[in-house]
Amino acid sequence: MPFRDDKTIAFKDTDLFKSINVGSAELKQRIVMAPLTRLRSTNYVPNTELSAKYYGQRAQREGTLIITEGTFISAEAAGYKPAPGIFTKEQIEAWKPIHKAIHDQKSFVFQQLWNLGWQSWPAALAEDGLQYIGATTDVYMDEDSKKAALDAKNPIHGLTIPEIKEHVANYVKAAKNALEAGADGVEIHSANGYLLNQFLDPNSNKRTDEYGGSIENRAKFTLEVVDALVEAIGNEKVGIRLSPYGWFGNMTGKNDPEFIALYAYVIAQLEKRAQQGKRLAYIHLVEPRVTSPADAEGVNEVEGSNNFIYDIWKGNVIRAGNYASYPDNAKTDVSKPNTLLAYGRTFISTPDIVDRLEKGLPLNAYDRNTFYNPDAKGYTDYPTYEEAIKAEKVEDLKLN
Ligand code: PHB
Repeated sequence: MPFRDDKTIAFKDTDLFKSINVGSAELKQRIVMAPLTRLRSTNYVPNTELSAKYYGQRAQREGTLIITEGTFISAEAAGYKPAPGIFTKEQIEAWKPIHKAIHDQKSFVFQQLWNLGWQSWPAALAEDGLQYIGATTDVYMDEDSKKAALDAKNPIHGLTIPEIKEHVANYVKAAKNALEAGADGVEIHSANGYLLNQFLDPNSNKRTDEYGGSIENRAKFTLEVVDALVEAIGNEKVGIRLSPYGWFGNMTGKNDPEFIALYAYVIAQLEKRAQQGKRLAYIHLVEPRVTSPADAEGVNEVEGSNNFIYDIWKGNVIRAGNYASYPDNAKTDVSKPNTLLAYGRTFISTPDIVDRLEKGLPLNAYDRNTFYNPDAKGYTDYPTYEEAIKAEKVEDLKLN
């Protein structure tokens, strides 16, 4: 497995290696594992043994924060059967040893709570007798998803207000389940064009009721989920992910002139709650270097910055988006108040990424073709630096 050829910096004496508390998690440094879909589950049940090994490897440096892959809050929220859920007893039991593997390394885990909405597969939902849902009836992500929905006789259904309340209740159940499974907290996925983002965004939210139209109305569902989770499990156990610049899932990103206003509003509402004693564990932002998680690095980067958050929000900020290729940006951004950096694709390929960033060692290259394999290949077989060097020496010997 070759190394990446990014410029490297030894981050040892930088702010990246200052300790910080996230909720009750006492982190020894500010490198976070980003949430990453890996599709090793079956029928929404994680492959315990394999995933415990994978997460345990990535938690190997004490005091690291891991955010799990997106985990469905309910069958209605789902549709990709090889992704995991946290809404049945079997799923909770399957997660327990995974979270334990992280805790055994003295690291911490937040479970990401996921609800697909219009990015789901209408046929898969129809097989289970479930509706294909979104923010607005008759408003589709694109022509392909419209065709898929009509072919499956499962046209998109904009949630009614009572259904929105049911989804909020399902977030609460899922959050409690995640804690029962041993997670230290949960992350509300309100980014990357999934259901909560579909309510925030004017491309997908064409509603005319109290959940549509104004920024305040579009933000309501996300903030109701926040409030319900804070009430149920406590503010310190709740984080949230937002992607102001994202286009994935046919979001407007910065094509909407009001996009900063929208996210400034949401973040301000979170700060107001914080000032009343309910500060979330963190706000997690995707940087404009990644406008679609499906793109390779460097593709569709846009100009801009999430720095506006610091004028509004005084709590922890996690920033994500190709920091491996931009170590100078990493150094600058992590020096901002209460800031942590999430690494994604390079955390997949580099189980000892924390040690390597500390020392300025090169990271492992990743193989995109194995991101979504069903098995151990490209999952638990990436080497540490020592193993990589040793393997290379063996290769050299063989060649000689
Ligand atoms: C994906 O599976 O491609 C995926 C999942 C969650 C995200 C982004 C991408 O937030």
